[in-house]
Formats: sequence, structure tokens, C-alpha cells
Amino acid sequence: EAIEKGGYEHFMMKEIYEQPKSIADCLRGRLDAKSGRLVLGGLRDYMNKFQNAERIIITACGTSWHAGLVAEYLFEEFARVPVEVEYASEFRYRNPVIGEKDFVIAISQSGETADTLAAIELAKSKGATIFGVCNVVGSSIPRATHAGSYTHAGPEIGVASTKAFTAQISVLAMMALKLGYQRGTLPESRYIQLLHELEAIPGKVERALKSNEAIKYIAEEYKDVRNALYLGRGYNFPVALEGALKLKEISYIHAEGYPAAEMKHGPIALIDEEMPVFFIATKDSSYEKVVSNIQEVKARKGKVIAVVTEGDTQVKAIADHVIEIPETHEAFAPLVAVVPLQLLSYHIAVMRGCNVDQPRNLAKSVTVE
Ligand code: AGP
Repeated sequence: EAIEKGGYEHFMMKEIYEQPKSIADCLRGRLDAKSGRLVLGGLRDYMNKFQNAERIIITACGTSWHAGLVAEYLFEEFARVPVEVEYASEFRYRNPVIGEKDFVIAISQSGETADTLAAIELAKSKGATIFGVCNVVGSSIPRATHAGSYTHAGPEIGVASTKAFTAQISVLAMMALKLGYQRGTLPESRYIQLLHELEAIPGKVERALKSNEAIKYIAEEYKDVRNALYLGRGYNFPVALEGALKLKEISYIHAEGYPAAEMKHGPIALIDEEMPVFFIATKDSSYEKVVSNIQEVKARKGKVIAVVTEGDTQVKAIADHVIEIPETHEAFAPLVAVVPLQLLSYHIAVMRGCNVDQPRNLAKSVTVE
């Protein structure tokens, strides 16, 4: 087992550090920005269905559902198709309105999640086309779907999903770019520029990992808190949900993720000097709005820890701690911004003496409903 961990103390840490490579592996052979090439083998026979779909329905559970939320923003922005993101456990029992014009994307690391499998069977019975985005080759979901793309992240052993999440977003980003280009909603020059941006992500994740020591220091300061809030807007809203899930599942600290603007509609009542609020405040189209949300937290004496873009000065001036990540196109920011949050949860859990790779009550794949 020590050999399998490759010198890391836990699988989770190894898997966090594998991300520059796992994302590159996921893009390899599929994307070549220089030549403008973007090929997803699994889509070939279903491109017509995908392109002419009246709606995309994404179904998944847990972290995979968070990847689906990122995809909702991607598909809507680049391909202008309506998207719904559904918890598989709700979708399967809800008698959903679904038919032949719907293109369903089922996302799953393990490919064995019972609720996701049942959602697929239901959508299939209504005539929809089902596309799988899975990590485990030959698992049940790829066998149950019409077509799919593997994430090629390699085996993920830690119960807390890390590299599978970023690989899922990478596949979904490629799908959104391809769809936007084919549907003509993404002009060629912008499409090529975005391919370059996506290709640069593994290098940016590598740079984000360099903040590990600084993150450890922050973890030391917050390891004993009882509650935490995670806030982000736009593409970074699902990152806030994912940051909160990572913290609660491995450190057993109660954490909530919210869209930053929703804070005013309830969570703001929780804020006092005891409450750490983790903001994802990268330079994007909602940056100024996030800055004012940070000011609102500071005015109530909350502690602010913010993930910011390198060179940021505005948030740095008001936050208690900042963690810098390289600048990216906002659509791909989740791939980089989630990394410090993964590291932070990892260190907090280790400092609290928790079993990071196998947290209590959780299984790597949930094969019962
Ligand atoms: C993630 O850290 C969790 N352990 C969990 O939410 C997981 O993402 C969920 O059970 C879905 O699993 P799947 O991707 O294998 O379908």
C-alpha cells in the first residue's frame, strides 16, 4: 500500500497532486489547440442527437453532481442549450417530463452509483439519448448508456473525490466547446482561444499546488472550527459546494456552500467572529459583486479566507487570508480554484486525526439507494 501511495501519506493527497497529469491525460489525444482539433470518440455516432437536442439533462450524485452544475454554465454559455442538472435520486422518482429530444448526460466516477444507474434506465425508457461520463472503464454505467467518454483520471482510491472531479469537468468542457462550435454559437476565433485556455489548465493546476505550505498554515488556524461557509458566484458557485462537501466528508466539520448572493437570504445570520467564510473570489465577471459580499462578511466580523487570482490587491486588502491561483478564463476557473480547497480540507482533516481516505459512514461507491 505504501508503494501505491507513491510516497504520499494518503491516497487523497496523492490524487490531489496527480491532477496536472490526470487532466492532461483526459485532454490527450482529444484536444490539440494549435490545429484546432477537438475529438471525443464517444460522441462521433451521437453528434447529431447532441447537436439537435432541445435540452440537456445532467444527472449525477455528490461531487459528480457538482461537476454537472459547472457543465450547466458551460453548455448554456457556449452552446446556448437549456440545461437541467438533476440529483439522480430525485429524478428517478419524480416522473420527469423527458423524451426523444432530450440528451441526458450521466456523470459518475465509479460508474456504479445505484441512483444514477436507475435515472439512466428511466430516461432510456422514455426514449432519451444517454451519454456517460465515467472514470472506471467497463463499469455498469458505461454499459448502460448509448455512448460516453471516459475521464481517464486513473484509479481514485480516496473516498473524497478529487482528480475525478477535475477530469469530469475537463470532459464536459470539451463537450461544451464542441457543441458550441458545431451549433455555431461559438465563433471560430473564440473557440480556438478557449481550446488554448483549456490546454493550459494542467500547468496552472501545477502552479496552484505550490500554495500547499501556505494552505497548511491556514488549516492550522481553522482546524478547530465547528462550522464553515463557502461562497462563490457563477462558475465558482459549484466550487463553493464542492469545497464544503470536501470539508464535511473528511473532517466532520459542518460546512455549507452557497451562491454568494444568497448569503443575504439566511446564512448571513450565522456570521460572527467565530465563523470562517471561504470565498472563491477570482477575477471574473462577478468579481466586484463578490468583493462586496466579502465586505458584508467583514462588517459582521466574520473571518474571510479567499481564493484569488495572482496579483489581486482588492480582496487581499480586506480578507484575513488569501490563496493565490493563476489567472484562467472564468469558464475553466473551477478546475484550478477547487485545488486549494481540496488541500485545505485534507490538512484540516489530518490535523484533526481523521481517517482521510476512508471517512466514517462513507463508501467509495454507493451501490445501494
Ligand atoms: C465525493 O467526494 C463523494 N464521496 C460522493 O459524493 C461521490 O461523488 C458520489 O457518491 C458519486 O459517486 P460517483 O461519482 O462514483 O457516481
